[in-house]
Amino acid sequence: MKIGFIGAGSMGGALIEGFIKAEIDKKNIIASVKTKEKKESLEKNIGIKVYNDNKKVAGESDILFIAVKPYMFEDISKEIKHNIKKETTIISVAASITNNDLIKLFETEKAIRIMPNTPVKTCNGFIAIVEKENQNIEKEILDLLSKVGMVKIISENLIHSYTAIAGCSPAFLYILIEAMSDAGVIMGIDRKTSIETAAQLFKSVGAMVLESKKHPAELKDAVCTPAGITIKGVEKLEENALRSGLIETILASYNKSIESEK
Ligand SMILES: NC(=O)c1ccc[n+]([C@@H]2O[C@H](COP(=O)([O-])OP(=O)(O)OC[C@H]3O[C@@H](n4cnc5c(N)ncnc54)[C@H](OP(=O)(O)O)[C@@H]3O)[C@@H](O)[C@H]2O)c1
Repeated sequence: MKIGFIGAGSMGGALIEGFIKAEIDKKNIIASVKTKEKKESLEKNIGIKVYNDNKKVAGESDILFIAVKPYMFEDISKEIKHNIKKETTIISVAASITNNDLIKLFETEKAIRIMPNTPVKTCNGFIAIVEKENQNIEKEILDLLSKVGMVKIISENLIHSYTAIAGCSPAFLYILIEAMSDAGVIMGIDRKTSIETAAQLFKSVGAMVLESKKHPAELKDAVCTPAGITIKGVEKLEENALRSGLIETILASYNKSIESEK
């Protein structure tokens, strides 16, 4: 089964690297990009076959990811739609192209809208798949995407919520890691160790929430001794409105995502 990519920048590239990390044979992944420089760098650094030829990749793929900017979809669809095999499933990662847009642009019902995030590169990403009317998402597609992260099938009216909370949040969380590492440096820990410590903390508390299935408030309470050290920090965190700041941050991206689809 050939997995093709039209576009292999931040998002397409992260999916490709995730699939390779998940031990999909490099020989079965192909991509097409715009520039010769990007083609050469992907071939050299990732080791897959890359073309500057969208039609070729479209024609050879059994699953075809479209990972270009949303404004390019119209031109790309006109260019490749007659080269895509009837059985090929098209998977779009674009933020503001709807399921119906995909069906119209590529003239096929075999098109799926997903919202992944760049941590798929580590096989620990998150992928929202938009459900299809009267059609199940094929097991083959679920199995493939599950290799690079947690998969949730969502209704399309929640796509902007998932764009904000899963697609955009890595940026916010990197800032939180950086801020925690600043605190570490202020307290005398070197930068590298501070960053590693903060990143490990995010990883471990995420695992605690997922594995314990407990509400985060219960887990928080469990580490706050009455009159203790931790609750003093929690008091400061609330005083500085980190909680509402984060909610407003995610809602700002949510509103921008809605605007960009209009
Ligand atoms: N970045 C994210 O975190 C993220 C998250 C979720 C969804 N998305 C979605 O992913 C899509 C791509 O975003 P991105 O951030 O990955 O953009 P990007 O880094 O700019 O990558 C775009 C890719 O498209 C290629 N390209 C441009 N014109 C092309 C053409 N005519 N034919 C073939 N390939 C062409 C570029 O090739 P060159 O490298 O040669 O220029 C590049 O590899 C967007 O629709 C976005 O909504 C992104």
